Amino acid sequence: MKNRIVTDKSLLDMNTFGISARTAYYAEFSSVYELRAVLADPQVAGLPRRVVGGGSNILLQGDFPGLILHPAAQEISLLEKTGDTVVIRAEAGVEWDLFVAWNVARGYAGLENLSLIPGYVGASVIQNIGAYGVEACEAVREVEIFRTDTGLTETIPAEKCRFGYRDSIFKRELFGKAIVLSVMFVLSTVPRFRLDYGDLRAEVERRGGATIENVRQAVIAIRESKLPDPKVLGNSGSFFKNPVVSEAMSAELTAKYPDMPAYPVPDGVKLAAGWLIDHAGWKGRRMGNAGVHDRQALVLVNSGGATGAEILALARAIQDDIHEKFGVDIEPEVNIL
Ligand code: EPU
Repeated sequence: MKNRIVTDKSLLDMNTFGISARTAYYAEFSSVYELRAVLADPQVAGLPRRVVGGGSNILLQGDFPGLILHPAAQEISLLEKTGDTVVIRAEAGVEWDLFVAWNVARGYAGLENLSLIPGYVGASVIQNIGAYGVEACEAVREVEIFRTDTGLTETIPAEKCRFGYRDSIFKRELFGKAIVLSVMFVLSTVPRFRLDYGDLRAEVERRGGATIENVRQAVIAIRESKLPDPKVLGNSGSFFKNPVVSEAMSAELTAKYPDMPAYPVPDGVKLAAGWLIDHAGWKGRRMGNAGVHDRQALVLVNSGGATGAEILALARAIQDDIHEKFGVDIEPEVNIL
């Protein structure tokens, strides 16, 4: 089989932050067979490896000294339709929003709140993407992976994926050991609308009421009004996770800032990092070529020609300031490479 490994490749078009950096080695794979061949190549033996799909949730600190693997398999298959339930498999290289649109067009409900999220299907389970009150894990049945430590494929049922808020087993125990090949989702032909987040219900009503298509269009409109288009202004969506603090800490902050958003979650109270950053005065500010988006303070942007180090310097300055002003620690949501 011919060697598919490319050397010294630019990653500029492969990260939505628009950071100019290179990788020592790069290879695409669309089957386990191809993946095995790439991994067995002696030129990449022992080097660091990362999988990059849409590149929409990464920050490149500089050139990558190892192998970047890119999933290229893009099939979507309807496996089963029983009563109201549909089971669909999507390969890791399918663009997430194409997958959502594919389902919405067929009347398969469950993912419409997750419209317009950049990235690939493979990353959706690693990151457990979420928006407007819904998380990807709610529709996942199982994840097919390739284990780089054993060289075998494995199917992990959703209950064993340890899904949490922007979290999964793939970011923890299986970090660096699992390459997602495909994801099996369970959706329904009978929608159960989830419209309680923010302005979603009002936006859906304005479009004539709840249908899967109207929810998708409403979510797209809300996202477009707040989140910068990476093709115009480089960014990776929310740069930080929303922090979860103790009830005591939340009560202390709410007494001081009565309008601060705070949502009870099983392990404490979730605060809005965007609100904290905004109220610390960072919205719209710039440090060098890195900036804080002027409509959503949780989004850091590349104002033009920023390096990964500049974005990180801004992120650290924000973290320190939020710690000082509110006593709260915020952690990056993007993966730093
Ligand atoms: N807020 C401000 N100022 C800001 C930004 C937010 O005061 O500059 C306040 C808002 O008014 C609101 C609260 O903070 O009361 C939450 O804001 P928003 O609804 O915009 O959502 P978020 O918590 O900032 C999260 C996700 C987004 C997702 C939205 C909608 C994370 C890290 N981010 O953002 O996901 O689209 O909810 O569900 O959980 C992503 O992960 O990349 C992403 C964009």
